[in-house]
Amino acid sequence: MTTTAEARQQLKDKTPLSQEIAEDRSEILNSGLAANLEMPHPIFIHRGEGAYVFDADGNSYIDTSVGFGLHMLGHRHPEIEKAIKDRAELGWMFGIHTTAQLKLATLLHEASPCAERVVFCNTGSEATMYAFRAARGFSGKDKIALFDGFYHGAHDYGMWITDPTSPRDEPRKLPMGHGIPRAIEDTVMLLPYRNPSAFDLIRKHAGELAMVFVEGVQSSNPQPGAGEFLSELREVCRDSGVLFGIDEVITGFRVAYGGAQDYFDVKPDLATYGKVLGGGLPVGAITGSAEVMEVFTGLAARNGVFSGGTFSGNPLTMEAGSAAVEHLKAHPEIYTRLNASGDRLASAINGYCEERQIPAQMKNVGSMFHMFFQRDQLDSMRDVTNENVNAEKAFYLHALNRGVLVPGTQRAFLSAAHGDAEVDTLIHVFQESLGDVQAEGLFS
Ligand SMILES: Cc1ncc(COP(=O)(O)O)c(C=O)c1O
Repeated sequence: MTTTAEARQQLKDKTPLSQEIAEDRSEILNSGLAANLEMPHPIFIHRGEGAYVFDADGNSYIDTSVGFGLHMLGHRHPEIEKAIKDRAELGWMFGIHTTAQLKLATLLHEASPCAERVVFCNTGSEATMYAFRAARGFSGKDKIALFDGFYHGAHDYGMWITDPTSPRDEPRKLPMGHGIPRAIEDTVMLLPYRNPSAFDLIRKHAGELAMVFVEGVQSSNPQPGAGEFLSELREVCRDSGVLFGIDEVITGFRVAYGGAQDYFDVKPDLATYGKVLGGGLPVGAITGSAEVMEVFTGLAARNGVFSGGTFSGNPLTMEAGSAAVEHLKAHPEIYTRLNASGDRLASAINGYCEERQIPAQMKNVGSMFHMFFQRDQLDSMRDVTNENVNAEKAFYLHALNRGVLVPGTQRAFLSAAHGDAEVDTLIHVFQESLGDVQAEGLFS
C-alpha cells in the first residue's frame, strides 16, 4: 500500500523540472484556468505519442485527456501529421477562402444527420455562441434554455451554474464568476436535466424560447440512458415551435461517426462541433437544417446574422481535420472497439467498487468516462455530493504517480491508440489507487 503522502513525495522526486516550470510560470503567467482544471500535482507535458504523453522530466503517462477529448486517434497520428506538414509547405493562413474548406465541410455534411449546411469557426465556444445567435435571429426570440450541469464554452451566455438552493424541478442559475453582464441574465434559462419537469417548462416558456440546447452526452455526467431524454426533448420542442440544438463538441465523431445524433437516433435543428473535427487543431462548426442555417448567408438574408473570424476555416485546421475524419470514416471498427473498451473499463471498476464496498462509480458512454466518488444514484449533476472530496483528490494523485493522467476536469476519454494493453493498465492502476485510498481510510 502507498499512502497519499508517499505518492506525493514520489511524484515530487521524479518531476523536478516540472516544479521549476511551475515556479517560473507563477511569476508571469496567469493560468486563466478554473481550479478544477488543475492537476493533482503540477506536471508539464513536453510531447505526446499515441496513447501516451511525456512530461518535462521524461516521465510517461497513459493520457486519458487526449487534448480534452479531441485526439480521437491518439497523439501524432501519422496521417494527420502528414496533412499538417504538407499544408505547411504551401502556407497555412490566408484569411480569405481556400481550396481546403469544402473537403471537411462535405465530410461533416455527410456524417452529421442534421448538417444540410456548415459554417466553420475556431472553437467549440464560438460554435455555441453562433448557434445561439442563429437561433435568436431565426426565431426572433431571445431566450436559450440550457440544462443544469451543462458546459457549452466560455462566452457570457454559457457562464451559468445551478443555484444549489433552487428547486430540482425548476433550477435557478448563478453567474459563474464575475464579469457576466446582468443585462443578459434573462436571455438564458436553466432546465432540469433528465427530469420530465423540463418538458413542462419548455411548453410554458415556448413563447420566449429561441432554442433548447443540450449536450449530446453531458461530459460532466456521461449517462448511457441520455438518448430517451433527447428524443422526448426533440418532440416537445417540435410541438412547441422551439428550435432544438445538440452540442456535439465532445460527442461529434466520438460516441459514433455520426455523433450523439446517430448514437441516439435523434435529429436536431442545429448542432455544434469542435474537438475531434479539427484533427487536433482549433476548430468549431455550426451545422443544421438549410432553413435555419440560411441566417448565415449574409446580413441581407432573411433574419441574417453575422459570423466571421480571421482564422475561421483556416487551411491548416481544414487539412488536419479532413485527415482525421477521413481516417475515422474509413475505419468504423474504431467505434465498435472503443465503445466496448469503455464499457469493459467501467464494468471492471464498478465491479471492484461493489466487491470492496468502495463508495465510487464510473459512468461512461462509449469511450467517454468519469469517476464519481459516491454510491448514490446519479441522474444529473444535482445528485453529485462532495462527501468524498479528499478520497477523490487522493485517487487522482495515486493514478498520476502510477503513470495515468486524468485531466483536472476529470472528464476522461480513450482514443483509438488506447489498445487492450492500455485499458488493462488503466483498470489495474484505477483499482490499485482506489484500494490505496480505501486502505488509508479516506472514504466516508
Ligand atoms: C460540450 C462542449 N461544448 C463546448 C465546449 C467549448 O469548446 P472549446 O473549449 O473548444 O471552446 C466544450 C469544451 O470542452 C464542450 O465540452
